[in-house]
Amino acid sequence: METPRTLTLIRPDDWHLHLRDGAAMAAVLPATARQFARAIVMPNLKPPVVTAQQAQAYRDRIVGALPPGSDFTPLMTLYLTDTLPPTEIARAKAAGVVAVKLYPAGATTHSDAGVTDMRRVAPTLEAMQRAGLLLLVHGEVTDPSVDVFDREAVFIERVMQPLRRDFPALKVVFEHITTREAARYVADSDENTAATITAHHLLYNRNAIFMGGLRPHYYCLPVLKREVHRQALIGAATSGSRKFFLGTDSAPHAAALKEASVCGAGCYTAPAALELYAEAFEAAGALDKLEAFASFNGPDFYGLPRNRGSVTLRREPWQLPETVPFGDAQLKPLRGGETLNWRLVT
Ligand code: DOR
Ligand code: ZN
Repeated sequence: METPRTLTLIRPDDWHLHLRDGAAMAAVLPATARQFARAIVMPNLKPPVVTAQQAQAYRDRIVGALPPGSDFTPLMTLYLTDTLPPTEIARAKAAGVVAVKLYPAGATTHSDAGVTDMRRVAPTLEAMQRAGLLLLVHGEVTDPSVDVFDREAVFIERVMQPLRRDFPALKVVFEHITTREAARYVADSDENTAATITAHHLLYNRNAIFMGGLRPHYYCLPVLKREVHRQALIGAATSGSRKFFLGTDSAPHAAALKEASVCGAGCYTAPAALELYAEAFEAAGALDKLEAFASFNGPDFYGLPRNRGSVTLRREPWQLPETVPFGDAQLKPLRGGETLNWRLVT
């Protein structure tokens, strides 16, 4: 099949995004607002977003920082801690919060306030199940004896299976899946389990981190895996299954902090997110599957309306800037300085 020159999609959403706060947020927000109609905003600020009131205030700061004329709606989340009271769930629901994020304590950036033992949060999960708030899961165990590359697969057995058994009516999104095991687990589970997949996990395997030297901008969590896993993710994203949808996990960290002896986890993909997904779907010969993945499956799972309006990508080479401003610092987008073959034109 010949590749089309343009691709028009119903406006897509980003179901997993890190916007940060303050000047950093103001710097990265326009890139997402240009591409997406809505985004699920992660609550891992410092300190984390743990009350309905904080979520509302954070939403107001985001809306206040939008460029004039933007048509973008942030969808807010709370950060699940060992002590998030079940009573906060009704307040969160009333405030328009749509989901609660589970970070196993210590799993990733700003996760030290996360959950240390799932038994502690059972009453809160119960309240979420009743209220219809979704649970978004960073699916990695933190057990230091488990190999970093196995942490997602082990999480399925140790946490996901018991969670699904104990809260069958809770809608759960297994976020940014990276393995064949997770793709299979989600494909085989019932209609209350879904997954987001990032563009970088569709495009790269773990070799990218070591190509000619250590490349910090390809380091994220869960870390890139072997090629067989990337292939499984491509298979899932392009399968036509409604359980898989777009979530960039775009996670900005100042370049100076990435290019350091200890490098924070996160790939900044927001400026060319759709272009990167289009590249991955095109390489798989599945451009016709991109619209459902980017624009339909997410809202359908969340029980939200699909967007109106459309965006158009054109097959046209252009150079992604190598750095972009980030408050007082600089940010290096993934693939910055390189030529991309798809370009968002509307
Ligand atoms: O790579 C990541 N970066 N993974 C996460 O889970 C968190 C994120 C961040 O906040 O930087
Ligand atoms: Zn994330």
